[in-house]
Amino acid sequence: MLNEERLFPPDKEFSKRAHIKSLAQYRKIYKESIESPEVFWDKQARNELVWSQPWKKTLQWKAPNAKWFVGGKLNVSVNCLDRYLDTATANKAALIWEGEPATNGTPGEERVLTYRQLHREVCLFANVLKKRGITKGDRVLIYLPMVPEAAIAMLACARIGAVHSVVFGGFSAQSVADRVFDSGAKAIITADGGFRRGSVVPLKQNVDDALVIKGADKKLLTATIESVIVLQRCGNQISMKANRDFWWHDEIKTVSPVCPPEPMDSEAPLFILYTSGSTGKPKGILHTTGGYLLYAKMTTRYVFDLQDNDVYWCTADVGWVTGHSYVVYGPLANGATSLIYEGAPNWPEPDRFWNIIARHRVSILYTAPTAIRAFMKWGIEWPKKHDLSSLRLLGTVGEPINPEAWIWYHTVIGGKRCPIVDTWWQTETGGIMITPMPGATPTTPGSATLPFFGILPEVVDEQGNAVEKNSGGKLVVRKPWPGMLRGIWGDPQRFQDVYWSEVKGSYFTGDGSRQDKNGYFWIVGRIDDVLNVAGHRIGTAEVESALVSNQNVAEAAVVGRPDDLKGQALVAFVTLKSGIKASPELMVELRNHVGKEIGPVAKPDDIRFAESLPKTRSGKIMRRLLKQVASGLEIKGDTTTLEDFAVLAQLTKTDE
Ligand code: WT7
Repeated sequence: MLNEERLFPPDKEFSKRAHIKSLAQYRKIYKESIESPEVFWDKQARNELVWSQPWKKTLQWKAPNAKWFVGGKLNVSVNCLDRYLDTATANKAALIWEGEPATNGTPGEERVLTYRQLHREVCLFANVLKKRGITKGDRVLIYLPMVPEAAIAMLACARIGAVHSVVFGGFSAQSVADRVFDSGAKAIITADGGFRRGSVVPLKQNVDDALVIKGADKKLLTATIESVIVLQRCGNQISMKANRDFWWHDEIKTVSPVCPPEPMDSEAPLFILYTSGSTGKPKGILHTTGGYLLYAKMTTRYVFDLQDNDVYWCTADVGWVTGHSYVVYGPLANGATSLIYEGAPNWPEPDRFWNIIARHRVSILYTAPTAIRAFMKWGIEWPKKHDLSSLRLLGTVGEPINPEAWIWYHTVIGGKRCPIVDTWWQTETGGIMITPMPGATPTTPGSATLPFFGILPEVVDEQGNAVEKNSGGKLVVRKPWPGMLRGIWGDPQRFQDVYWSEVKGSYFTGDGSRQDKNGYFWIVGRIDDVLNVAGHRIGTAEVESALVSNQNVAEAAVVGRPDDLKGQALVAFVTLKSGIKASPELMVELRNHVGKEIGPVAKPDDIRFAESLPKTRSGKIMRRLLKQVASGLEIKGDTTTLEDFAVLAQLTKTDE
C-alpha cells in the first residue's frame, strides 16, 4: 500500500468549530488567493493588522525584489500588544514561562505575563535601548536563554525600529563575533547564563570572548559594539566592564514605562536571522515588517486553528525562525497564550514535556520529528504517567517526519483525536508554506500535504519545467508572498545567486520534493550541501572550514548519513598535515574545535581519517561517493572519474 493511500479524514467535531471547516472551503479560498493575489492580500492586511498609515500599492514585484503594502506604516509591537490593551485580552496570559526544574525534580520557576504586563516590560526595555543610544535602523544582537526577556527584547527592538538578530544560545563566541561583524550590531543583549540540563551555559562569558576576537586583518570583529545589556538569570560570577556592560535590572529602574511606538515603513527591516547555506559563512536572512507580520499572524491562526482559550506551546528556541514566527510574533499578534520553556525535554526526567502539558493544560503542541523520535526511544511509560487530554492539535516542523513517528505521535500523544499538522517551511519563507488545514485536509503520515493560501509551490526538472505527478524534482515557489525573505543582509548578489538563479523567476527552496496523485507534497530533503541534523540546519562547507582551521588538518569533507534519531548525522572525512598521526585524542580535539568555532550543534558525529579524499579529475571532492561510504552503502554509480581508486578502498575499510 502506498503511503498516500493511508488517509486520515478530519474529525467531524473538530471541523465544526475550526476556522476552515472543509477541504472545499480551503480550495475555494486557495483558488481566490492564487487567481487574484493582490486582492486577497490587500483584504487580509486590512483585516488582520493595525496600520498607522495605509499603503498605496499592495505589491511591487520585480524578481527577486518584492515590496508589500508599499507606503504603509505600522509597528509590530503595537500589533502584538497595544491593540489588545483596550480589550478583554489585556488581562489574558500572553506568555507563560517555566524555567528549568531543579535536579531533585522541583518544578522550575514560573512566570505569567499578561498582555498588559508584557506591554509594560517591552516599553521599559525599549526605553533602555534608547537610553543606550539605539535608534531606528540600528542592529541589536540578542543572545539569551529561553526566558520571557528574549521575547521582551525582540518586541522592544521592534517598538523603536531597531533590527534584532537573535543568536541561538548554543552558538559559540566565534559565531557571535561573526554575526556582530556581518550585521554591524551596536549592542548585545545577553544573560549571565542560561540553565541547560542542570549546568550553566556561560552566555556573558562567550560575549566577553567574542568581543576580543579579531579578523584576518587583525581588527576587532566586534568594533561596532557600544554596549552590552546583561540579564541576571543564574547568579553566576561574571565580569562587568564599566561603561560598556549594564545590568538589565538596574537599567529598567532608570527609565519611564511610557514609550511611544515608532511608525515603521511596511518594508523596514524587522530582523536578521543567520542560517547556514551550501557555501561559506551563514547568511543573514532579512525579514521586514508588514508582510512578515501578516504572514506569521495568518499562518498561526489557520494552521493551528487557534481559538481564544487555547494554551499554545511551540517548543522551538527563539534562536531559530520557528521561535520568531511561532513562539513570539504569530501567537502574540493573535492575542494568544504562548508557553515558553527554558530547559531540555529529558531533564530532570524524560517526561518533562508531558508534565508541562498536564500542569498547564496545553492544547496545541508544535515540536520537531527529532524530538518525537527521542520520545519514542525513551518509551511510552513517560507520556502515560500524565493526563494529556487537554491536547487538541499537534504540529511538527523541521524535517520530514517518518510515518512511524507520525503514528506514534498521533496515537500515544494525541490519543487518536488530535489532527497533526506537518508544516514545511524555511527561515527564508518567514512562515509555514505547505501544511494541512486542521479540520479540513485529510492527512497522511509523512506528507506536509497542500500549500497555504497564496502560495504556489511546484516540483520542477533541471530546465525549470513542472514534472509529472509522482516524479521527483526541485521544489520552487512561483509567486511572491508577504512573508518571503527580502534579501541576504549586505549581499544582494548572493541573494540572487542562491535563490533566484537556479530556476529563473522562481524562488528555489533547496529541497527536493514530489507531488502525489492528490496533489500532496512529499518533501524529500535538501538537495544542496545543507544538512538537517536534529532539525538544525548545518552547512557542510561551514563545518569543513571549521575543521580546516585546525592546525592539524589538511583537508576535510563533510557529508550526512541517515540517523535514526537525528534524521541526519554529520560525518567528516579528514586528511591530516604531514607528520600528524590520527588518534582518538585528535578526534576529540577536532570535535571540540568545531564546537568552539560554530557551536556544539555542529560537532561531527563521526570523524574518519583518510590518506586522501576521492576527487574527480577536475579536483572536486566526490561527495556522492563519500555519502555512500558514510552510510555504509556499497559504492554505486560511475566512479571512473576517480583520481585514485586506492583511496576508495581505504575509505571503505575505515568503515568497519
Ligand atoms: C529546511 C529549512 C522553518 C522551520 C525550521 C527549519 C526542512 C522544514 C519540514 C517538513 C520536511 C522540512 C527542509 C527545509 N524542513 N520543515 N515539515 N518536512 N522537511 O528551518 O533551519 O530554515 O530549515 O528544513 O529541508 O528546507 P530551517
